[in-house]
Amino acid sequence: MELLRTIEEARQFVLSQKKREKSIGLVPTMGYLHEGHLSLVHTAREQNDVVVVSIFVNPTQFGPQEDLDRYPRDLEKDRNSCSQASVDAIFMPAAEEMYPERFHTWVQVDTITETLCGASRPGHFRGVATVVSKLFNIIQPDRAYFGLKDFQQAVVIKQMVRDLNMPLEIVTVPTVREADGLATSSRNKYLTAKQRASAPVLYNTLKLGQRLIEAGEHNADVVHEAMVKEIESQPNTRIDYISVCNPETLAPVDKIENRVLLAMAVWLGNTRLIDNILVEA
Ligand code: PAJ
Repeated sequence: MELLRTIEEARQFVLSQKKREKSIGLVPTMGYLHEGHLSLVHTAREQNDVVVVSIFVNPTQFGPQEDLDRYPRDLEKDRNSCSQASVDAIFMPAAEEMYPERFHTWVQVDTITETLCGASRPGHFRGVATVVSKLFNIIQPDRAYFGLKDFQQAVVIKQMVRDLNMPLEIVTVPTVREADGLATSSRNKYLTAKQRASAPVLYNTLKLGQRLIEAGEHNADVVHEAMVKEIESQPNTRIDYISVCNPETLAPVDKIENRVLLAMAVWLGNTRLIDNILVEA
């Protein structure tokens, strides 16, 4: 497995693979790899000759009050995980090389970035779209892999690829969960034992919404209210948003007729967790 630390090293690696007509799958990550990330890697491994994992804690997608400085890192463990998963190369550039002085170009996806996480994290998706564009330009993958745990992120990236005619396929992978339903996340590490014990309330609440819809509830307000109550029944939680929305436009729906996305962001202490599920009406 190769460790590519500069853009030049990555370009040389990519060039040599392209010369040999190898297909490339890219898994963009911020490191501290867990089973969720590895599920993307395994899918990429099945579908491509060469798998590249990028590890880059992207400063431009963090707000000024967010957890950039304390975001967890463990390169040694990440290297082992990648090597065991038969990754061909890790690309881990320095922030100074990705964002040199006088960096002025941004990728801004409109409308679908204004709701859900975009509403409470202004500038977040601009940072994500920009860094993912840069990674696509550097690695030139045939396919890139994104988890449905970050549903809005996957929708934003697909929109960007479509709007800017980027020549690759975006593959989405289902959410990996812990045994009690909590979506696996690098940020779960921040939770105290007490908060960790409360954390399954997110998934339980999504399942409650699903049961109501599958039992015939068509009124989104009723579903929304039941979900709010369920989260609030758990002490130490603070709701950022709970949404019953259209999975394509991400706009809230009034009447549940087709497939809907149930999505939420909930604070447990200083840790903001997100989760979502798709439900058939
Ligand atoms: P990160 O949070 O490290 O996640 C990297 C990828 O792993 C994302 O596509 C995310 O959706 C996926 N992922 C995380 N937890 C998952 C889980 N439990 N099940 C399935 N997939 C999961 O998302 C980012 O990094 C960044 O925004 C990035 C795209 C790398 C741009 O900086």
